[in-house]
Formats: sequence, structure tokens, C-alpha cells
Amino acid sequence: MRSRNLFRLAGALALAGAMGAAAQSGADLAPLPEPKFNKDQAELGRYLFFDVRLSGDAALSCASCHDPKKGWTDGEPLGKAYPASEGFRNTPTILNAGFKKRFMWDGRLDGSDMGTLVRDMITEAHTMNMDSRLLQERLKQVPEYVAMWQKFRKDDINGMRVYGVVGEFVKSVVSKNAPIDRFLKGDASALSESARQGYALFKGKANCASCHNGPLASDGNLHRTGVPENPGVTAEPLRHITMLRHYSTSGMPNYMNAFEDVGSYAITKNDKDKGKFATPSLRDLKYTAPYMHNGVFASLGEVIEFYDRGGGPGGELKKLGLSAEEKRALVAFLESLSGDPVVIEAPKSPAYQVRAFGKN
Ligand code: HEC
Ligand code: HEC
Repeated sequence: MRSRNLFRLAGALALAGAMGAAAQSGADLAPLPEPKFNKDQAELGRYLFFDVRLSGDAALSCASCHDPKKGWTDGEPLGKAYPASEGFRNTPTILNAGFKKRFMWDGRLDGSDMGTLVRDMITEAHTMNMDSRLLQERLKQVPEYVAMWQKFRKDDINGMRVYGVVGEFVKSVVSKNAPIDRFLKGDASALSESARQGYALFKGKANCASCHNGPLASDGNLHRTGVPENPGVTAEPLRHITMLRHYSTSGMPNYMNAFEDVGSYAITKNDKDKGKFATPSLRDLKYTAPYMHNGVFASLGEVIEFYDRGGGPGGELKKLGLSAEEKRALVAFLESLSGDPVVIEAPKSPAYQVRAFGKN
């Protein structure tokens, strides 16, 4: 089933790439819409998000890597991973993930299917390394979870549906009160003069909006910007092992000789996708440093320097020739895309309780 999914995805990604090439300038941002999610499911999903029993050895919850106090990331350049592994990509925030067209830095999962994303996070060897059947039996032994489940379904906690329930919580985690949204809805005073100058550059001379547009400041498509490799990925064996394992599961040819992050190519196996990544959202950057798929840039200033020099070799970007004032204005504008901090306290996980004989 996995390989059929990957095959379908390869087609979808090829299409997404072609659409990216046709991106028109004149593109603009849009206010963040209201989130849509099932309230009863999101309530159980909130408990599950913070419950370490969703991982194989009960060491990690979703929140261990997507920590509300660190902008729903882990704050590291390269991600944490399941014990005895290390990650090879930066951990993205889950803020506003429910609005994404594609998930993951290489865009390998469809944004309309949060359940599949959650399943992968829970069952992947290097994230939570959990078995689906074991998960079901564990959750069934927590009476509070069964009671919450039965608010939206008559049956017992079962199988794949649990993933969608966690997904409903993820969809509910959205940023609020960003100055840019107030500005786009007509409050001109919401942006400082410098941020307004930055916005004009963003849509004009700096050409950011050709890829960063819409409510998330993302076209959701694949692009090659030529971000430099993070040397940590190949210098640290545990990170390199995780990367090779990701490539081998994706069926990438000659994966064992990969010493760089090939991005979407591992999924599509199409040479033109080497080094391409999905355009990320630019919301809430204030809370999610460091930046890029491998966390190589520590600050927004470094990101702007990268764009000013025309990105990296072989990328789609051109030199910008920005003045020091223009660079500052762009940073001020990017900061205005951050809302108030969204912090949800971890609920206390209810205890296991063995069911009466015959009630399983
Ligand atoms: C061990 C760390 C870790 C754990 C635990 C973890 N994640 Fe992630 N998550 C990541 C990393 C790393 C990525 C990016 C992977 C990539 O792009 O290849 C990611 C990606 C995501 C994304 C996609 C975001 C985007 O912008 O594309 C969402 C949503 C998400 N995780 C939700 C969850 C949920 C829900 C859980 C719990 C079921 C969870 N994660 C558990 C590390 C983790
Ligand atoms: C050709 C499309 C394209 C253009 C033009 C573009 N970007 Fe990006 N941007 C991307 C992609 C793709 C990434 C992710 C690259 C990676 O991780 O390797 C990215 C990443 C970023 C990030 C990091 C976000 C994060 O969460 O790590 C920031 C900030 C950013 N861009 C700002 C800008 C600004 C400001 C401009 C204009 C000066 C700009 N971008 C122009 C495609 C583009």
C-alpha cells in the first residue's frame, strides 16, 4: 500500500512542480481563514497529542517535538527523533498546518489527508515507532479516552480513526491576531512604516510573493532555492542513518551514495526535483527559528542575506541588490506575519485501567 501511495504522490508532486513554474507575479497574501475541525474529536486529540503512550517505548509524545512553548517545534536546527536515532530535517511547527496544501519539507503528503500524516508520525521508526494494534489496545484501557471517543462514535476506540482524531486537534491549532491580518482587513495602522515598506518589497523588487502567497504565504509548490547543506547531517552518523533509511523506504535509486538532502527527488525520482522543497508558510516565524528544511539559518537576517545574494547554486532565485534599510524593512514585515503566542498547557494523562473480563 505504501508503494502505491508513493506512486500516486509522485504524479501529484510532478503536477505541483509544473504549476509552480507558472506562478505569476502580482501574487499577494490573504488573511488567515477560520479553522474547521470537529470539536469533540479535537478534545480527545488534545489529550493524545500530549500522551507519551502514543510512542513505542512511551518516551515521546507529539509535543516532545512540536512543543507549544517553542512555537510548536523543538527549537533545534535538526530535529529530535525516537531514542537511539536523530533527525535529519528541521521540525516544522504545527501552527496553521490544517491550511497546508502539502505536508513535509519535501511535500510528500497531501494536505487534505491529516490522518495519513499523523499515522506516519506515529508509526515511523524514527519518530514514534509505534505499532497500530498496540496503540489501539493501549488507548482502549484508558476509560476517560473511551468516554471521550463515545461522544462522537458509538463503537470502541479502533484502528485508523484514531489518527484522524489527533489530526482534528492539529487543525485547531492556529495563530491569532497577526498584525498582517489586521492590516489586510483594513487597519492600516497595524503595520509600522518599515513593515509597510517591507511588504511593498515582498510583492515587488524582492519578488518573495511569487512563491510566498495566499493565507499562509505559501504557494504549496516545490522550488529549488539552493539552501546550503547542513554539515551535521553527514557528520553525525545517527542523522545520516535516518536520512538513508528515509531514502531507502522511498525507493530512491542509488540512495546509499546520497550525501546531501535531495528533497522531493527521493519521492518523485525525477531529476528535475533534486534539491526541491515545498514552499513553507511564513507565519509565526518569530517563534520557529532556526529556518529552512535543515535549520541552517539562525535568524531572519541570515535568511534575507541568502535571498539578497540570489540564493544558492542551481536555484531559481536572482540577486536582489537590497540596501541595508530594505533588508531591515523585509525583516520587519516578516515579523508582522507572527500572531500572539499560542500556548496550550499539557493535560494530565489519565491512567490505564484493566477492563472487566469479557468487556474487551
Ligand atoms: C521525534 C520528533 C517528532 C515527533 C514525536 C512528531 N513529529 Fe511531527 N514532524 C517531525 C519532523 C522532523 C517533521 C518534518 C519531516 C519532514 O519534512 O521530512 C514533522 C512534520 C509534521 C507535520 C507537518 C508540518 C508541515 O508543515 O508540513 C505535522 C502536522 C506534524 N508533524 C504533526 C505531528 C503529530 C500530530 C505528532 C504526534 C502524533 C507528531 N508530529 C510527532 C518531528 C516529530
Ligand atoms: C522560488 C520560490 C521562492 C521565492 C521567490 C522565495 N522563497 Fe522563501 N522559500 C522558498 C522555499 C522552497 C523555501 C524552503 C527552502 C528549504 O527549506 O530548503 C523557502 C523558505 C523561506 C523561509 C524559511 C521559513 C522556515 O520556516 O524555515 C523564509 C523566512 C523565506 N523563505 C522568506 C522569503 C523571502 C523574504 C523571500 C523574498 C526575498 C522569499 N522567501 C522568496 C521558496 C521561495
